[in-house]
Amino acid sequence: MKTGKCFCRRAKGLCKRTKCFFSWMIIVAMLMPALLLCACSRSGRLSKKSNGGRLMPGEAFEEEFLGTEPTDPGPEPIDPGPEPTDPGPEPTETDPANQFKKVAISLPTKSLQRWLDDGTRMKTALEQAGYEVDLRYAANDTQTQIDQVRDMILDKCDLLIIAPLSQSPYWDQLLSEAKRNNIPVISYDRLLMDTDAVDYYVTCDFYLTGQMQAEYIIEKLDVEHSDRPVNIEIFTGDASDNQTNFFYNGAMDVLDPYIADGRIVVKSGQTELDQVATVGWRTELAQNRMDALLATFYSDGTPLDAVLCSNDSTALGVTNSLVANYTGSYPVITGLDCDIANVKNIIAGKQSMSLFHDTRTLADATVNMTLDLLSGKEPTTNDDVRYNNGKKTVRSYLCAPLLVDISNYKDILIGGGYYTEQDLS
Ligand code: BGC
Repeated sequence: MKTGKCFCRRAKGLCKRTKCFFSWMIIVAMLMPALLLCACSRSGRLSKKSNGGRLMPGEAFEEEFLGTEPTDPGPEPIDPGPEPTDPGPEPTETDPANQFKKVAISLPTKSLQRWLDDGTRMKTALEQAGYEVDLRYAANDTQTQIDQVRDMILDKCDLLIIAPLSQSPYWDQLLSEAKRNNIPVISYDRLLMDTDAVDYYVTCDFYLTGQMQAEYIIEKLDVEHSDRPVNIEIFTGDASDNQTNFFYNGAMDVLDPYIADGRIVVKSGQTELDQVATVGWRTELAQNRMDALLATFYSDGTPLDAVLCSNDSTALGVTNSLVANYTGSYPVITGLDCDIANVKNIIAGKQSMSLFHDTRTLADATVNMTLDLLSGKEPTTNDDVRYNNGKKTVRSYLCAPLLVDISNYKDILIGGGYYTEQDLS
């Protein structure tokens, strides 16, 4: 029978399926605990994620032993190569803490070589130490300088270095603002007068400079043993520059006794500071005054034995005038700065000496003071009594002047690396 056959076959078929069904049931029953464990573990992790990463009760154990979900491990680390053997010296000069500090420097003019040298040297050294530097020149104009310094304070500099053009009453007002903002102020080369907001002063000893120039004249003319009075004239710098007072006092303390006993004569009679000062230290003003003195007091053949000039820009004016107008034997002429034009005049016999205020020493001393102040250290000073600016005695660091003349300019200026032979040829 078809049906019987069928049933039988179906019965046989059903039996096979049933056997098969039971076999699967046994396998599933054996795997069930493992599947349940796995599902629990997944749901535990998901529940932690859905709780913003906070650990749920009972999860500490799982966390401790299973660790957290692996996050994206990112690209394979690149082989860093061999361990560096010698890391070299610690970069002490580029302390990253300095990188956001700004030092502002305000200098008088670009027209004199010395101020260019000072600026470049300080800027380079401070930048190497990691500071930002705002260096500005005031084009010989006091109002420009005041405006520039105001900008620097508004710009939140961390320290100010100023070589003032003149003693404006605005300085006190302006620097008091710096003080309120805890900005230390270093007076550079020239002292800021009549303000208690100046903290330190770095300069060359100008009293000594004046003394050395006067002593040079006494010695070169052998005034002690001269059989006739020697005739000299005097030229200083700008009367509003405190340096001029120091220079003038130093020089006059040496000359006065000789003038008093007649061994030195100032034919023009111009010995008071307001008579001998040169506005703005300007070469052409010194030249005009020398022209007038020669025409008035020396055109009759009276010898002019020496001209005491406080610096090289005034010495240059005096020299120009003498070369154009004076026919007697060439006088002793002093100076200061060792500017190239003046050293060339020393070589040519038109200027006798110049004092060297090594701007490298001055700039380096100021940089060291700046580094100390900005890292909370006490800066080094070597004169805390002599420089009173009318409001306070300013703690000072003084550098010593060096006397340069034909006998030693090669050693000091070329040997010392300040100039090359070519600079002076
Ligand atoms: C400086 C001199 C400079 C003069 C004119 C003085 O304050 O000390 O070196 O020659 O200014 O700029």
